[in-house]
Amino acid sequence: MTNEGTTSRVWFITGASSGIGRELAIQALAAGEAVVAVARHTETLAGLAQSDQLLAIEADVRDETVVAKAVGQSVTRFGRIDVVANLAGYGLFGAVEEASDTQARAIFDTNVFGVLNVLRATLPVLRNQRSGHILQGSSYYGQTADPGVGLLAATKYAVEGLSDALAAELAPLDVHVTLVQPGLVATPFLSNLAAATATHADYDQTVRTLQQAIGALPAEAFSAVERVAAGIRTAVASDNPPRRLALGVAGSDSMRSALAARLDDLDAWAAVTELVDAHAG
Ligand SMILES: NC(=O)c1ccc[n+]([C@@H]2O[C@H](COP(=O)([O-])OP(=O)(O)OC[C@H]3O[C@@H](n4cnc5c(N)ncnc54)[C@H](OP(=O)(O)O)[C@@H]3O)[C@@H](O)[C@H]2O)c1
Repeated sequence: MTNEGTTSRVWFITGASSGIGRELAIQALAAGEAVVAVARHTETLAGLAQSDQLLAIEADVRDETVVAKAVGQSVTRFGRIDVVANLAGYGLFGAVEEASDTQARAIFDTNVFGVLNVLRATLPVLRNQRSGHILQGSSYYGQTADPGVGLLAATKYAVEGLSDALAAELAPLDVHVTLVQPGLVATPFLSNLAAATATHADYDQTVRTLQQAIGALPAEAFSAVERVAAGIRTAVASDNPPRRLALGVAGSDSMRSALAARLDDLDAWAAVTELVDAHAG
């Protein structure tokens, strides 16, 4: 059941300059909804339809003070925030060992601590309203990982973990949390991928093989960003939104395999699991 059309939402979207965040902003504006489009450089928002329903704000999600100011400006302008879309983020490709300490910390700064900055700034607004919906930009790499995406997956797993707790904390306050888990989407995400500083030949058979396989994928392997944004809007319009929203069958299948493998391990090693209990013989 949906409530589409019965409300004019106010969106607070990070990563609005590109890809999924940008497309969400476009679709919300086209539906007559209000959008706070947050980008590191506001000139990247120039292509969005100019309207008094659009507030473009320059903010780097790594800067807590700037993010808090952006939220204040949003509430001053629109009076409320209904949907927080945490879509700012980037990827890092390379074996776990190949990423430097600086690179590992940097991706957490944006993909995890940036999300936390946005949450701490927006949640007081949503809690006071006793309504709202947080969209957390995760990935199928929030539930599984392939060679070369260890650091990216680590940030998405972190977001998944904190979001499970957050959802339980916010449920009594009527604030929803949905982890958005796209598969491969046709956005600039892959061209914006950072590369790990080091390369070791020992990882050619795993990491470089996957890199080549991804590079050789046909265009049809990538979901259209318009459909991904439309899927997200369907979840936002629902009275009963999901905790997790898989977008694209390939990513969904990868997550199913990973989840099945986890259950297999639980079953196969149940005897050892039980042996450590105090009542075990
Ligand atoms: N595309 C995919 O295949 C795919 C698959 C699964 C999950 N996802 C997830 O979906 C989300 C959006 O990705 P996308 O595909 O839309 O990628 P994208 O087109 O590269 O967009 C990423 C956005 O994040 C912004 N950003 C990066 N670092 C930032 C920072 N420190 N502060 C503020 N904004 C920052 C970028 O802004 P600038 O223009 O300033 O760089 C850009 O707007 C990401 O979390 C990604 O992990 C994507």
